[in-house]
Amino acid sequence: MNPIPGNERSIEMVDLAIAFGRGNQRRQVVDQVNMTLARGESYGLIGESGCGKSTLLRALAGLNHDYRGHILFNNREQQPLRDKPFYRQVQMVFQDPYASLHPRKMVWASLREPLKLHGMDRHEARISEVLHAVGLSDAFRYRYPHQLSGGQRQRVAIARALILEPSVLLLDEPTSALDVSVQAEILNLLSRMRQQRNLTYLLVTHDLAVVTHLCERVGIMHHGKLLEELSAERLRRGEADESYTREFLAASVA
Ligand SMILES: Nc1ncnc2c1ncn2[C@@H]1O[C@H](COP(=O)(O)OP(=O)(O)OP(=O)(O)O)[C@@H](O)[C@H]1O
Ligand SMILES: [Mg+2]
Repeated sequence: MNPIPGNERSIEMVDLAIAFGRGNQRRQVVDQVNMTLARGESYGLIGESGCGKSTLLRALAGLNHDYRGHILFNNREQQPLRDKPFYRQVQMVFQDPYASLHPRKMVWASLREPLKLHGMDRHEARISEVLHAVGLSDAFRYRYPHQLSGGQRQRVAIARALILEPSVLLLDEPTSALDVSVQAEILNLLSRMRQQRNLTYLLVTHDLAVVTHLCERVGIMHHGKLLEELSAERLRRGEADESYTREFLAASVA
């Protein structure tokens, strides 16, 4: 039984499966995953390196069309090739903002691009608003990515995701490339944005402090499977049902 009522579901995966390679090289990287995110919820996804977290996020985001099973958004089944409204509503933020921003585009041009693509109005006003929302002054419009600090670059990447007024952010280790001092600022920003904009987060991280700071619920992946789900509260207390999870938590804290 799915504990989240239908009218409150944002993202839902049913028997999601993703494999790579052919013949005897074929490997199941995401294996029959069932997961539901309530609207406005922040869900953390943890698990060891290579267990399939990024692969799952990419399939959800519509960046990889080669999957089995079902992906639903706002209760509607999505086709592997998503429609344009989906790409506006569901935005991804990556670990390395350098890779997600065009090196030869000034901030304003990177922010205007998605607006043009989605036929949105009020470009100048939206750019100012979103820069302000992520804590950057208007002067940052005229910077190139290499003229920004790591934290400022991630703010621009978050602004780029937010400018389309999405309802879901898929965040793949959004703070792990940053200095510890900057990580907290970005986490606070993400937390504030979620409250103000009623966003749903699916956040991949290897940092348990990030999960407990930002998420209400946590899923633990192991070899492509969703091993178990816990409230952040139970995670904090180390109360997992699966012995693998308890070992993973103990190793992560050490
Ligand atoms: N396009 C691809 N082709 C073949 N194998 C892939 C591809 N993408 C990912 N993989 C493999 O799938 C497995 C899961 O990768 P994935 O990037 O999802 O792991 P992850 O859980 O995000 O790990 P990390 O915590 O290190 O980021 C890895 O073994 C990886 O090598
Ligand atoms: Mg990854």
